[in-house]
Amino acid sequence: NEGSLWGGRFAGGPADALAALSKSTDFDWRLAKYDIAGSRAHARVLHRVELLSDEELEGMIAALDQLEADVVSGAYVPAESDEDVHGSLERGLIERAGPALGGKLRAGRSRNDQIATMGRMFIRDHSRLIADGLLDVIDAFIAQAEAHPYAPMPGRTHLQHAQPVLLSHHLLAHAWAMLRDVQRLTDLDRRAAVSPYGSGALAGSSLGLDPNAVADDLGFDSAVWNSIDGTAARDIFAEFTWVASMIGVDLSRISEEVIFWATKEASFVTLHDSYSTGSSIMPQKKNPDVAELARGKSGRIIGDHAGLLATLKGLPLAYNRDLQEDKEPVFDAADSLELLLPAVSGMVATLTFHTERMAELAPQGFALATDIAEWLVRQGVPFREAHELSGEAVQVAESRGVELWDLTDEEYAAISPALTPEVRSVLTTEGSLNSRSSQGGTGPTAVAAQLEELKRQVAPL
Ligand code: ARG
Repeated sequence: NEGSLWGGRFAGGPADALAALSKSTDFDWRLAKYDIAGSRAHARVLHRVELLSDEELEGMIAALDQLEADVVSGAYVPAESDEDVHGSLERGLIERAGPALGGKLRAGRSRNDQIATMGRMFIRDHSRLIADGLLDVIDAFIAQAEAHPYAPMPGRTHLQHAQPVLLSHHLLAHAWAMLRDVQRLTDLDRRAAVSPYGSGALAGSSLGLDPNAVADDLGFDSAVWNSIDGTAARDIFAEFTWVASMIGVDLSRISEEVIFWATKEASFVTLHDSYSTGSSIMPQKKNPDVAELARGKSGRIIGDHAGLLATLKGLPLAYNRDLQEDKEPVFDAADSLELLLPAVSGMVATLTFHTERMAELAPQGFALATDIAEWLVRQGVPFREAHELSGEAVQVAESRGVELWDLTDEEYAAISPALTPEVRSVLTTEGSLNSRSSQGGTGPTAVAAQLEELKRQVAPL
């Protein structure tokens, strides 16, 4: 049982099938730098309670530094016989420090508290990376909004023309959703900033080691107050995959719109050549692959989250080996987003909007009917009645195959004497937009104020 972490009570080594099943180095090796950082911190607390002499600490740190350099350079890689990153790095440490010193480091810690800590360290680092990627997408929306402050587009509900809105207003709607995603990452980091190191296998350590010193060394705010919780909980992992799923969903929603906007039928946008792909058979094709991959990968990230929750659901406290399955969903969600975010921000930043076409369509499909009703309300007509009268105007226009502004003064007067020619002030896209000037509305002054507020909230992030 050479090289194994638990030979003593066993007469022989594991069956090949078990060894193959058990092995996690092909995916947990990426935690090596966190494991080594944990080992350095652990060596220091062993030294503080005199379980390592000054000289031993120095030798241990030197060996860990060497091991880390060898891991980074690729000179040290996991062996076929290594089960996981922790076992492999202990082997590497012993090779460098010798068995007398290297064998001392495992005192007072377990792979159970190590892996729970490493996972949180990974989540914290990648939450920051993903937040930075999201902020780039938000910046791309802000730049497009600033480039098109007054361009109208058809605002839709149920995908039907509803009311004209500003393109900038629509784009910033995506930015606000992504800002909340950034806040979710910051918020989960507060909970992730508590270190399980020192929880041992599940019960803590009898060696008088200070978990808060380790926590501090590894950049955590504090250590856990319950070692069972420390080793068994994976809610932070699931929170990460949930937030990742939400980010995937938000990226997918803008992507679905871009895909639609780029159709011949919509012709709202042209994708930049560098963010679109061609077809191997149809020479004319220009495909929105970035958006489609965002839409597709969001499904995969939701799968990571659902799979992790299913793994956790039936687990009694404390550690169970099922928890080895906690890592791949977290890694996959992070990897997927880190690939996607730069592509999505590039795609958004380089979209060309066909603003004349969008402006032309903005008021069509009777999208100003609500403006007529609200204009009537301002003339003192009860909304119930105003809604009816505006609806009748739509019916007349529809039956004649024209738009609301094509109806004559006589036709309006025939519907109701309240519909005087002054109603035409709201029968333009501009009049409609300008009237929606309160906070959160799509009027140009409200959108300018919104943009300032968004930038104010984004600035410190
Ligand atoms: N590799 C394991 C994991 O990823 C940690 C090892 C704990 N193993 C054990 N038998 N207690 O969760």
